[in-house]
Amino acid sequence: MAIRQIRKDGDEILRKKSKVVDVVDDKIREILNDMEETMHAANGVGISAVQVGILKRLVVIDIYDGNKPLKLVNPVIIKQKGKQEVEEGCLSFPNQFAKVIRPMEITIKALDEFGKEITIKGKELLAQALAHEIDHLDGKLFVDIMLPGTMEYLEPNNNENEKRKE
Ligand code: NI
Repeated sequence: MAIRQIRKDGDEILRKKSKVVDVVDDKIREILNDMEETMHAANGVGISAVQVGILKRLVVIDIYDGNKPLKLVNPVIIKQKGKQEVEEGCLSFPNQFAKVIRPMEITIKALDEFGKEITIKGKELLAQALAHEIDHLDGKLFVDIMLPGTMEYLEPNNNENEKRKE
């Protein structure tokens, strides 16, 4: 596994649409492993492949609930329910947090890291992370939907900085 460079705000790749993965092979699993390591090194709860410069529909999420990180290939939202107003950050926007409205519950379909079809239902933080990362695959960023006037800039060493970077 290797830590990859995280693309930051202003990098035009973040606005591009990622491509569907046709075959889930060792190369894809290696990218997913690298995404996991990169996300953990940056204390993130989620990361999309485009954030490490790869335009493939790949997402890794870890909400630190004791379960293994989710590794998703070609995730698609099939159902969403309710709304939550939450504070959100992004690994591509260091030290910035803003309020956004996300679904309270989300159901997605995807392939796992071995190419098997899976359905995942997430609530609260998991629903937020799924919505955030799937947006990345279409070049959408949390700053596009943030509630006006809610952007906060934290000092790099602020403890609160450890929260909700996706
Ligand atoms: Ni993000």
